[in-house]
Amino acid sequence: MTASKPVVHRPREEWTGQVGFILAAIGSAVGLGNIWRFPGVAYENGGGAFLIPYLVALLTAGIPILFLDYAIGHRFRGSAPTAFRRLGGERARWLESLGWFQVAIAFVIGLYYTAVIAWALSYFVFSFDLRWGDDPAAFFTGEYLSTGSPGISLEFVPGVLIPLALVWVATIIVLAAGVAKGLQRVNVVFLPVLIVAFLILVVRALLLEGASSGLDALFTPDWSALANPDVWIAAYSQIFFSLSIAFGIMITYASYRRRRSNLTGPGLVVAFANSSFEILAGIGVFATIGFFAVQQGVSVAEVEGLTGVGLSFMTFPAIVSQMPGGAIFGCLFFGSLAMAGFTSLISVLQVVTAAVQEKFDLGRRAAALSVGGISAVLSILLFSTTTGLLALDVTDQWANNVGVVASAVLVTILVVWVLRRAAELRGHLNAVSTFQLGSIWVALVGVVAPVVLGYMLVQRIISLAIDGYSDMPGWYLLLFGWGTIAFILVAAVVLALLPWRRSPDEFIPWPPRALDTPPSRRKEASR
Ligand code: ALA
Repeated sequence: MTASKPVVHRPREEWTGQVGFILAAIGSAVGLGNIWRFPGVAYENGGGAFLIPYLVALLTAGIPILFLDYAIGHRFRGSAPTAFRRLGGERARWLESLGWFQVAIAFVIGLYYTAVIAWALSYFVFSFDLRWGDDPAAFFTGEYLSTGSPGISLEFVPGVLIPLALVWVATIIVLAAGVAKGLQRVNVVFLPVLIVAFLILVVRALLLEGASSGLDALFTPDWSALANPDVWIAAYSQIFFSLSIAFGIMITYASYRRRRSNLTGPGLVVAFANSSFEILAGIGVFATIGFFAVQQGVSVAEVEGLTGVGLSFMTFPAIVSQMPGGAIFGCLFFGSLAMAGFTSLISVLQVVTAAVQEKFDLGRRAAALSVGGISAVLSILLFSTTTGLLALDVTDQWANNVGVVASAVLVTILVVWVLRRAAELRGHLNAVSTFQLGSIWVALVGVVAPVVLGYMLVQRIISLAIDGYSDMPGWYLLLFGWGTIAFILVAAVVLALLPWRRSPDEFIPWPPRALDTPPSRRKEASR
């Protein structure tokens, strides 16, 4: 496809190089999912035995779909809607709606992800004087969040609203500064600080009395868990959220890679760095819980609140209070949580900003300000009120376990089966990368991923529809759970139907120049 009239291409923003990209991709992957979610999910789903579904999920779907995202973003050089529209070509322009489906998921996740970062920031400050007192669980839901019963409240909680507004201002500034000067710079600064802070925390945790009993509890395998489909669903969902795949992030990030850039090699680095951090978080958190159990004279299994939101914001503060030097430990933990969250948040929001920028032909700052402004208002309205915690819990369940998994199923089926583009994408990855993909990759993204994920998705939908979630009233689940999915679907259709201000091909360089050359220029590829 060649344009007949001369066009002025707007140069696409780029990472400054391979290291910048890898840092940004690791920064995106390592987030709340690793620290806030993984330890509890692993403990709840078979402990040591969970590592098996986790590794299977990483190898059969996580890494293959990460590569698929990279290939789509890099080859079609655009935000998710642009990339899918180009992938669809003249015959399947409707594929743009798949991009908007992913953008809508990222938008929803951004709304509540910010709230958890805001809590982490508050708790970072509370750590200095152990503000949660003797009953951290009651402090969290009572004094801090003033949580009421499920409903819709417009009673704002200033303790959440203020840090939440600050997080949004910081996010808008970073997005407006752009890919190299904003996103990359934040990662270059925060990621090393995060790693050092977290390593100190884990070493300190391992030196605590009772640490080994916590590790035993986390890693002792409950093999019967492997027969439970829910455990496998939990592993796949964890990998998707954690690797930042199937909701537009890696498509968007790869689109800022230079043309001839190694993709699969850095992809493996990112995937293994992310899982290493995740397991490190599990070790740090459970070593600390082991200490707590010993202090209480109970077994780890008897400690309450080892999963979900409660683990980080109720159980952890209780432990911090008992520790010598607990204030420093608390600052390290909540500071790490906020930093890891922020480097992921900017990647989530970049998905939306880049898409809006391209579709509506806006400048970077205008796009950052409009996306950030609208998101900030909604996020504050929904998640800084007295019903914020419950709304967050339900929205997260549906956006993640239904939205993200559905997106992965749709991408693999549409790209591999309907449009039959797997060979082209594999050729693209192999043309630019050092680590070559065999036909096994096509089998994984074309057969294993859609079958396993499709099964999981159906199971999940049935179980949410029949059993509900967490004893919440049906109307509440309808509004915040199924309502979230309805919103994502409607947004996907409506945004794809809206006209483009200018065809993206006019201002984003396209089509690629001879990208499918044989993989002979290895040196260039590693730039
Ligand atoms: N990958 C990010 C996380 O783990 C979204 O939190």
